[in-house]
Amino acid sequence: MRSVLLQVITGTTREGRFSERVAAWVAERLAARDDFAIELVDLRDHPLPFFDGVSPARTGREYPREDVARLGQTIDRADGYVVLTGEYNHGYPAVLKNAMDWTFVEWRRKPINFVGWGNVGGARAIEQLRQVAIEFEMAPLRHAVHILPDILIAARQAEDPDDRSVFGPLEAKLGLLADDLAWWARTLAAGRDGETE
Ligand SMILES: Cc1cc2nc3c(=O)[nH]c(=O)nc-3n(C[C@H](O)[C@H](O)[C@H](O)COP(=O)(O)O)c2cc1C
Repeated sequence: MRSVLLQVITGTTREGRFSERVAAWVAERLAARDDFAIELVDLRDHPLPFFDGVSPARTGREYPREDVARLGQTIDRADGYVVLTGEYNHGYPAVLKNAMDWTFVEWRRKPINFVGWGNVGGARAIEQLRQVAIEFEMAPLRHAVHILPDILIAARQAEDPDDRSVFGPLEAKLGLLADDLAWWARTLAAGRDGETE
């Protein structure tokens, strides 16, 4: 069976971001599994200007710039995604949308799920991202992880920033996300491999 690669995409880039704590926890848990490989993608490593090009839905993998090519080729090699998102003004971070708008076909026919945080666990941001994912012809999945304020506060107050025990109540939910994402990633990878076009 073909090996499956899942990417964990850190969707916030601001100074002091909480997403680093989430990325460390999610990456550690997913890396411990043997049913897929994981790769961390940090949007800080992919700074891009505001999108001002021709729609990538039309241009595909003809990249207009080297930095866009690097992002596109990164996204292209994955079979599925876990996007880590904070909530900014009841939406998802603009830096994440900007990165997505520079790409298109790279995400196509692949599953995506989310870990969010905030006053309602990032639920509003995640719901919006599910709509965006459909336009990218992706399969947005159901079992997202929502980090609510009780855990956010405990994590921020923890003396040791590497203390993963604060996420303990969410371990089962992350396991469900991973099981489900692995199934969809394997299944859609097999479907894409069988494509003749
Ligand atoms: C510009 C801005 C807008 C925010 N709006 C919301 C919001 O609408 N809902 C919410 O739950 N939290 C909101 N927050 C709080 C964020 O959820 C919190 O700062 C979180 O840590 C952001 O993720 P990050 O630290 O990785 O950037 C907002 C924060 C910022 C900086």
